[in-house]
Amino acid sequence: MPTSFPAPRPRPGHSPTLQAWVDEIAERARSRLGTGRIADYIPALVNQDPERFGLALCTNDGQLYTAGDAETPFSIQSLSKVLLLSLALRTHGDALWQRVGLNPSGMPFNSLMQLETERGKPRNPFINAGAIVVADHLVGAFATPAKHLQDIARTLSGNPGVLIDHEVLASEWSHRARNAAAAYLMKAFGNLDNEVDEVLTAYFACCALRMSCRDLAVALNYLAADGRALTTGERFIPPAMAQRINALMFTSGMYDAAGDFAYRVGLPAKSGVGGGIVAVVPGRLSICAWSPALDASGNSVAAQYALELIAEDLGRWHP
Ligand code: DON
Repeated sequence: MPTSFPAPRPRPGHSPTLQAWVDEIAERARSRLGTGRIADYIPALVNQDPERFGLALCTNDGQLYTAGDAETPFSIQSLSKVLLLSLALRTHGDALWQRVGLNPSGMPFNSLMQLETERGKPRNPFINAGAIVVADHLVGAFATPAKHLQDIARTLSGNPGVLIDHEVLASEWSHRARNAAAAYLMKAFGNLDNEVDEVLTAYFACCALRMSCRDLAVALNYLAADGRALTTGERFIPPAMAQRINALMFTSGMYDAAGDFAYRVGLPAKSGVGGGIVAVVPGRLSICAWSPALDASGNSVAAQYALELIAEDLGRWHP
């Protein structure tokens, strides 16, 4: 049963010092624009402007601090894997872990190598194969899982304008060979219940959601707040589940760079090839940084740097 709390609606933060700090971080992070590459394996993402940079911090009492292009919607891509996982655990609980593992892969997010030797059980829910299994779980539970996820993203962010970008969806579909290979391999090992095309469509539609830094910092604040959604005041997931998702983000949210990122930033985080990264400071706040140019692991260069600067200075203030 969800527990209700008074909902602290997101509102502009009231600390000028904190806003000045966020502005300064955004300014310093912009020095990294010009390094990295836009993801070009999804043609619909190629035309993103590499000079864009956005940052949003959302405290657990609903204060929002933003800088740069924080209100610009972008393709959330793998950030959707956090919402998908939350929804799957909420719906089916720990049964999911019979079909997907809990360990870092140490491999690129779209690698197929372990999938063959590990008999179709993906290492974790944040690599593509893992999220495809999670999507399969949801295809069984909801008639239109991506639409359901879109509704959840709207409710959690408080933004009814959150949409699936059909151009990105079509682009991912027509360049699906690698994800389709993973899905067919898992199907062959008996780890996919539904038809491959149906599962892939749901998975791509979730990746194709468009949200802004502001939307994402607000929507994923439940991970910093013991599972309580900021916009509704209700418990979206139980506290222990939020803790476990944070643990998975810490170990696997940044793919083969998870160890590097943990060393430099030390926060649970999840990235997407649209250039967004969400990070969580449990008990305090959620953060989303975005800039489209990526490093070799598929993580945004400027967004990572912004998070590094935030983590360095986090002890300086107490909202
Ligand atoms: O399936 C894909 O490859 C993309 N839709 C999502 C990949 C992604 O965002 C991985 N992130 N770094």
